[in-house]
Amino acid sequence: MKIVTVVGARPQFVKAATVSRVIRSTEGLTEILVHTGQHYDANMSQVFFTQMQIPQPNYHLGIGGSSHGAMTGRMLEKIEEVIIKEKPDVLLVYGDTNSTLAGALAGVKVHIPVAHVEAGLRSFNMNMPEEVNRVLTDQISKWLLCPTETAVKNLQNEGIVARTQALISNVGDVMYDAALFYSEIAKPTDAISSLIQQLSGNFYLATVHRAENTDDSVHFSNIMDALNTISETTAVVLPLHPRTRKLLRIDYCSQVRLIEPVGYFDMITLLSNCKGVFTDSGGLQKESFFFKKPCVTLRNETEWYELIAGGYNILAGNQVDKILAAETFIQKTIINEVPPLYGEGNAAEKIVEVINKMM
Ligand code: UD1
Repeated sequence: MKIVTVVGARPQFVKAATVSRVIRSTEGLTEILVHTGQHYDANMSQVFFTQMQIPQPNYHLGIGGSSHGAMTGRMLEKIEEVIIKEKPDVLLVYGDTNSTLAGALAGVKVHIPVAHVEAGLRSFNMNMPEEVNRVLTDQISKWLLCPTETAVKNLQNEGIVARTQALISNVGDVMYDAALFYSEIAKPTDAISSLIQQLSGNFYLATVHRAENTDDSVHFSNIMDALNTISETTAVVLPLHPRTRKLLRIDYCSQVRLIEPVGYFDMITLLSNCKGVFTDSGGLQKESFFFKKPCVTLRNETEWYELIAGGYNILAGNQVDKILAAETFIQKTIINEVPPLYGEGNAAEKIVEVINKMM
């Protein structure tokens, strides 16, 4: 069986790393990896391939840095060419990015069944480009591979199966597989090791990149002002996504420790050593939990509802007062164990089993 996997953005490299390893060690399966080029800076892309030992892509489409429509349209055209040439049995996509939607659409248009990893997640906010991408991808996928029970219920509520005969499975979360596997072997760079040493573990880790926060100058300056105030007493380390870097004015960041985007090994080392996390990233909310760190989400809703229900995460939106008040949540929350909200660390095996069985 031949599988064409489409990736393009940073979180997809982390997810594909674990599944690719299982695909490539399963007899009878071949994987062709397509990188759309959505993320192209070395520290947003190549570092993940190197550290996580993801095979180099068979196709690199070099499409990044344009508007949503132009990017998605160009990806659709190029991925279709690859599919027509490779004639795969399955097209595999991850998550909710423009690369996900373009891959799924290219596959279904030429009648290649699509498997969607991270199916069923919903924020119920259609202003987010990611919500549009995931809702549409679920509509056209044959295998809906959900990370949680909440995701399964969302799909059931939408009645997708009755209309499309898709197959829904709760396989667990591949990011949990990645956290378990790579935390055994992760070696941080010297720069991150000395930063952690210098701060003696007394710091928060923060990330900001969502369009809803960075494209609105009031939201963005609220978040930066709040982080700045917090860092007067506890250091805040903020690896900068290129979207954020483009917007940052120097007066936002007199106290916050701004660093370049970090690779996966540095990220999990920062997570293991920090006191808590402030983020608008979907993946980092879960990774905080995997590393037993309380998380403040800089959004008004989340797809990872079970983290809120379990008391591991709170929503603080993008108002200064709410973010400042949320620091108390980090200070008083202690996470001693990681219950299996996201499976048992074998999501990749389950995904490959489901696809293999149904062919
Ligand atoms: C994308 C995904 C989001 C995911 C995030 C993870 C969509 C709609 N959004 O958002 O779901 O959580 O990736 O990181 O697909 N840029 C660079 N260098 C790079 C990559 C991007 O300079 O290596 C620039 C782009 O040119 C653009 C901006 O950063 O100006 C944002 O990149 P884009 O790919 O639009 O989306 P993300 O914000 O990264």
